[in-house]
Amino acid sequence: MKVTWIGHASLLIEGSIRIMVDPFIEANPSATVKKEDIPRLDVIAITHDHEDHISDAFDLAKRDNAVVVAMHEIAVKAGEQGITAEGMNIGGTVEVKGAKFTMVLAVHSSYSGHPCGYVITLDGKRIYHAGDTGLTRDMEIIGELYTPDISFLPIGSRYTMDIVQAAKAVEYTKTKKVVPIHYNTWPPIQAAPEEFKKLVGNKAEVIILKPGQSYEL
Ligand code: NI
Ligand code: MN
Repeated sequence: MKVTWIGHASLLIEGSIRIMVDPFIEANPSATVKKEDIPRLDVIAITHDHEDHISDAFDLAKRDNAVVVAMHEIAVKAGEQGITAEGMNIGGTVEVKGAKFTMVLAVHSSYSGHPCGYVITLDGKRIYHAGDTGLTRDMEIIGELYTPDISFLPIGSRYTMDIVQAAKAVEYTKTKKVVPIHYNTWPPIQAAPEEFKKLVGNKAEVIILKPGQSYEL
């Protein structure tokens, strides 16, 4: 399985199916690709409807006839645009095209419904995308129940966790590998991933990607 960090919170997961989380490409200053470079998608998972997470989601869903997985209120909006959407809520799991999406808590805000993260199970691997969130002890639940193979955690501060909190989230989630995201897209969310790596120490393998870079899982 290959995971590609498009930049910011945008993630492309390619295994037996192709999944994108939080497509933010055209208006993303850190993206190295264009929307047309994104290969055909099977599922698009949305963590919340802030612009930097949802801006290209509905367009790509229409282009590829992809299924949108989202919080109920966002799924309703997708449905109104003719998109096939699987609405759900925190605690729930939906299976789409062989992949499982478990919606987990994110402590943040949104225009519609509640923001969330996902534990995605694909081809026997568990991938945690935290969405935008502050640190919460509820992340211990993810560690106890899911023990992710790889986690994507925001470190940029201001709108989400900073590097100290994200290092604590690594501990809580018992993740084996971690990729820092949601930083250095704009000046207000500057962060030092190397410092994050030091704070995590030997608790997990920290994989620092450049936007557009992939990791083979
Ligand atoms: Ni947000
Ligand atoms: Mn955000």
